[in-house]
Amino acid sequence: MTDLSNLSNSVSIRDLSLSFGAVTVLENLNLDIKDGEFLVLLGSSGCGKSTLLNCIAGLLEPTEGQIFIKDRNVTWEEPKDRGIGMVFQSYALYPQMTVEKNLSFGLQVAGLPKDEIAKRIARASNILQIEPLLKRKPAALSGGQRQRVAIGRALVRDVDVFLFDEPLSNLDAKLRSELRVEIKRLHQSLKNTMIYVTHDQIEALTLADRIAIMKSGVIQQLDDPITIYNRPRNKFVAGFIGSPSMNFLTGELAEEGGRPVFRTNGVSFSLDGYEASEALSPGRKVVLGVRPEHIKVDGDLGSEEAHDAIVDIEEPMGADNLIWLKLAGHTISVRIGGARRYAVGSKVRLGFDMTMASLFDAQTEERI
Ligand SMILES: Nc1ncnc2c1ncn2[C@@H]1O[C@H](COP(=O)(O)OP(=O)(O)OP(=O)(O)O)[C@@H](O)[C@H]1O
Ligand SMILES: [Mg+2]
Repeated sequence: MTDLSNLSNSVSIRDLSLSFGAVTVLENLNLDIKDGEFLVLLGSSGCGKSTLLNCIAGLLEPTEGQIFIKDRNVTWEEPKDRGIGMVFQSYALYPQMTVEKNLSFGLQVAGLPKDEIAKRIARASNILQIEPLLKRKPAALSGGQRQRVAIGRALVRDVDVFLFDEPLSNLDAKLRSELRVEIKRLHQSLKNTMIYVTHDQIEALTLADRIAIMKSGVIQQLDDPITIYNRPRNKFVAGFIGSPSMNFLTGELAEEGGRPVFRTNGVSFSLDGYEASEALSPGRKVVLGVRPEHIKVDGDLGSEEAHDAIVDIEEPMGADNLIWLKLAGHTISVRIGGARRYAVGSKVRLGFDMTMASLFDAQTEERI
């Protein structure tokens, strides 16, 4: 984790708007990325992640707004002058060139001296562990090796800011998780600013110093992964992050014995322990969100208020077991240890950890 306090800005985006004809993709977007920060842009397909990254890279010209890199206004600068290196989702290596040539080609074109090129290739290939591959051509590499060469091509440019656009999405799950660790290691040793686009929440949670979650071209929340996970600002963010997804129960606020409760289909849940940012006024229509791992059953129950529920279905996942319970007309997923098994139809006692829950206004879907 990088300590972000006291760091100067590496990339600043000011009131950025971009339209393709009548279609507005980004509108008045503001974002400051700190020096050395690993920032992940996360969002579903079509939300504008690549568009934003391409604006920073200089491959798209914004309709309005400005972009600063290291306090320099680069809005109208050519991509090559911006001090950035970019790794694309569909990395095209030159097939007729060796790995070494793929790495050196751009530097030769830029007129760098031979020994400097050799030094940079040695450094990049050492970091990425591709030294044994330098004499091979791309056809003789695995997908993960090719991806590392593509990252190497950005690395040798010796830039301040790296931009990654879903660099791992073409790889199978196992390779993806291996390269994820390597990218994290890369950032720890280089300490450059990295802006990384993905729609994979695990990549976002594991890599990011901060995550910017986007929806329809608008940043919904910009925070460190733990805050995003535990205190989502709205229902969209809450539902986007977390797998299996957060449970959402629609109901309303009420008061019992002078204390706030959440009521749904005639059943009341004490809200003791919930940290609300505003008054929990009775009658307000709300959605209660609870993650599967923040629900306790039977022997795990502590001081939580307990309710009776019926096991509807069981999904053993190895390390964990996901059980789906029927309660007050809702089906609720609960994550328990993989060794604990429940028969379908059996009765369990269930309690919500309200300190970890989220309440959203039913109308605005904003956190309460
Ligand atoms: N050249 C273009 N002309 C018109 N619309 C475009 C153009 N390029 C992108 N768009 C639209 O802009 C929106 C954002 O596209 P963008 O490529 O930034 O999405 P993304 O978040 O990167 O999605 P993905 O995860 O699928 O790569 C989409 O609705 C897309 O259809
Ligand atoms: Mg994209």
